[in-house]
Amino acid sequence: MSKSIDLVAGAGLRDKTRKSRLPARLDFLQSASGLFLALFMWAHMIFVSSILLGKDAMYTITKMFEGYYVFGKSYPGLVSCVVAVVFFVFIVHAGLALRKFPINYRQYKLFRGHMKMMQHEDTSLWFVQVYTGFAMFFLGSVHLYIMLTHPDKIGPYASADRVWSDLMWPLYILLLLAVEFHGGVGLYRLAVKWGWLEGKNPNETRKKLKKAKWGITIVLLTLGFLSLAAYIKIGIAHSDQVGERYTPAGVEQPHQ
Ligand code: HEM
Repeated sequence: MSKSIDLVAGAGLRDKTRKSRLPARLDFLQSASGLFLALFMWAHMIFVSSILLGKDAMYTITKMFEGYYVFGKSYPGLVSCVVAVVFFVFIVHAGLALRKFPINYRQYKLFRGHMKMMQHEDTSLWFVQVYTGFAMFFLGSVHLYIMLTHPDKIGPYASADRVWSDLMWPLYILLLLAVEFHGGVGLYRLAVKWGWLEGKNPNETRKKLKKAKWGITIVLLTLGFLSLAAYIKIGIAHSDQVGERYTPAGVEQPHQ
């Protein structure tokens, strides 16, 4: 009898002393998935804003992602593969972030109280992350599911029809605001947390990082809203021919 109690007691004590590395590993995973998504969004903004260079430019980018210039034929399924990877990382990142959300209203009130009392910008930025992250649970999932299931419906007319005639523009306005603030603050917090670019004077670096963060966020928001305005303008003009696909002059209309 006593031997088994010792064993259990011993085991308990032994486990007690060794600090679990799991939280640190999960933090690293959250940072890595966040970095991947933030860099993906920079690329995404470049591709989506190609509409500002004209319909032919956006058509070319779309065909490129469908493998047309490699295989001589379009495979929209390739886009679904990319979306599936991004959606998986998006869900993992959101799941890991749940660990940092206030677990009940009392804790939420406590955090809010601290934020008001401390008047510390980095603490307030944490709340920006919680609110924008929460919003993207829903807004981002809608967009990603549509892209996953309708990869063949991307293009100058198809995207514009979705934005205007399918009424996606209100969702895109909210998603654009959420993703650009979340991505900007996220990259800033990663740089501070992991000490990137720290240099000899961390406070000075932090000020510069904050300026860079706001600069990048303003550039991406401007590009995003200009692109959205371009898709809306094309969508309004095309609202009588919804479903018609865009093809550049001299390129044969794909068979419907
Ligand atoms: C591989 C995954 C993705 C693909 C293929 C994709 C594709 C597209 C395309 C083609 C558009 C143009 C409008 C349309 O066709 O409806 C668009 C717009 C947009 N996407 Fe994505 N997207 C992806 C992931 C994401 C993610 C993860 C987010 C944010 C969480 C996001 C946020 C947006 C926003 C805010 C717009 C509006 C564009 C703007 O305001 O300029 N996208 N996306």
